[in-house]
Amino acid sequence: MAKNTLSFVCQNCGAAYNRWQGKCESCGEWNTLAEEDTSGSVPVSIRSKRKGRTFALESLAGKSPDAPRLSSGMTELDRVTGGGFVRGSVLLVGGDPGIGKSTLLTQATSMMARAGHRIVYISGEEAVAQVRLRAERLGLSDAPVQLAAETSVEDIVSTLSEGAVPRLIVIDSIQTMWTDTVESAPGTVTQVRASAQALIRFAKKTGAAIILVGHVTKDGQIAGPRVVEHMVDAVLSFEGEGSQQFRILRAVKNRFGPTDEIGVFEMTGLGLREVTNPSELFLSERDLGTPGTAVFAGIEGTRPVLVELQALVAPTSLGTPRRAVVGWDPSRLSMVLAVLEAHCGVKLSGHDVYLNVAGGLRIHEPAADLAAAAALVSSLVNAQLPTDAVYFGEISLSGVVRPVAQTPARLKEAAKLGFQRAVLPESARGDAGGDAGLSLNAVNSLTTLVAEIAARGSRRGESSAPAEKNATPARFRRGEG
Ligand code: TYD
Ligand code: MG
Repeated sequence: MAKNTLSFVCQNCGAAYNRWQGKCESCGEWNTLAEEDTSGSVPVSIRSKRKGRTFALESLAGKSPDAPRLSSGMTELDRVTGGGFVRGSVLLVGGDPGIGKSTLLTQATSMMARAGHRIVYISGEEAVAQVRLRAERLGLSDAPVQLAAETSVEDIVSTLSEGAVPRLIVIDSIQTMWTDTVESAPGTVTQVRASAQALIRFAKKTGAAIILVGHVTKDGQIAGPRVVEHMVDAVLSFEGEGSQQFRILRAVKNRFGPTDEIGVFEMTGLGLREVTNPSELFLSERDLGTPGTAVFAGIEGTRPVLVELQALVAPTSLGTPRRAVVGWDPSRLSMVLAVLEAHCGVKLSGHDVYLNVAGGLRIHEPAADLAAAAALVSSLVNAQLPTDAVYFGEISLSGVVRPVAQTPARLKEAAKLGFQRAVLPESARGDAGGDAGLSLNAVNSLTTLVAEIAARGSRRGESSAPAEKNATPARFRRGEG
C-alpha cells in the first residue's frame, strides 16, 4: 500500500511536520507551513531494485575541453564569482524584487554571447517581449542570446540537451520553475528543491554553468530557495537601498572563490554601471562639517573601501532608549556603547542612538568599532571630527584598541582619496609602512580617543581645519546633563 507522503512543509526553511501548526519550530516563522507531497523527486516506478552501473574514476589532473572559467565581461561580477563562472557549476543570485537581478544578468549574458559563447536565458517570470524590451533599453538587442519564456524543467532540459552544450544558462527565477516528478504547486519548497536538483544534475552532466535567480523575503532570506542554498556552488546576494542607486553584489557562499568580496554597481537609466572605485562613490555625498560623522577605512574582500559612518545621539523621552542601526551589526553597536559607558565614562543610557552606514553598504568588519565610537562621541559632544581623518581599529571589551589586518592597504586608499590623517590602533603603527603620507594618530585605548574628541568639543571650533571655523558652538558633554 502506498505510504501517505503528505506533510506540512515550512515554506521558509523546509522543515517538515506531520500536522499543521501556526509556528515553524525550526526557523520560528509564523504561518509558513503548507501541505506538500514530500515523497521526493524520484517517481516510484524508477525506484526499482536495479543493479548499480559501473562508472570510470578519473584523476584530479584531467584536462577539460574549455577554459574552466567563463568571464562575464563585467569586472565587478567576475570579482565576486572569483574570476568567472566555473564549468558545470550552479550559482544562485538572490535579491529583492526590482533590485536589478534580471538587468544584471541580461547585461552579463549579452556580453558573453557577443564574445561567441552559446548563452541561454530562460525567463519564467516575464514574456519574451518584456525581456526584449529590457534588452532594447540597454542597447543589447543585437547580442545573440538565446531566449525563451518557459517554466517546465523537463521541457527546458530536453531543449537544452539538443545541439551544442550552452556555456551558461540563466533561470529567471527558480520560484517559477516546476517539474512533473513532484505534485506540489510551483513556488513551494518541494517544487523549488526538485527543480533545482534537476537543473543541477543537468549542469554537472553537461558542464554548462547555470545561474538560478531567487527572490528574497523582506528579512533578507532567500525565500523557498533557502533550501537550495546548500545544493548550489555559490550564492550571491544582490543588495541595495530602494532609494539609492548603488547596488552591491556580495558572495554569501562560494565553492570556487572568496566569500568576502563585493561588486559595486550603480543603477542608471541605461542599466547597471560598474563602479570600479567604490570609495569615491560612498564619499561623494559627504556632509562635511557635521558632528557625528566619521570615515571608516574598511576592507571588502581584497579591496579597501572608505565609507562614512553617521551617528545621531539625542536625549530620549522613552523609558528604554532606542538603538537603531543600518548597515552594521546591532550587537556590535551595543558592545561599543557598553565599552564607552564602562571604561570612558560616556553616559548614553538617557539617549537614543542611531547609527547609519552611508551609501547602503553593509559592514561586517569589527575594524569599524573605532570609527563607530568616534562618530557616536562626536555626536554626543556635538564636536565635528577632522574632515581629513579616517578611523579603523577593533575595540575589545576592556576598551583597548586592537590591531586589524591590512593596515597598509587602508592607509593607501585613504591617501589616494586625499585624506591627511589616520586614527588607528597603536600596535598597527608598525605595519603602516610609513610611506602612505598620512599623519598617524595611534591610540591604544578608547579612553584616549574619547578625551581627544571631548577636547575638540570644548575648544568650540578653534581648530585649524577650515571646515570647522563655522561649527556650531558645542554644548560640551550633553551626555552628562
Ligand atoms: P529588474 O532587473 O527587473 O529587477 P529584478 O529582476 O531584480 O526584479 O530591475 C527592475 C528595476 O530596475 C526597475 O525598477 C527599473 C530599473 N531599471 C533601471 O533603472 N534602468 C534600466 O536600464 C533597467 C533595465 C531597469
Ligand atoms: Mg527579474
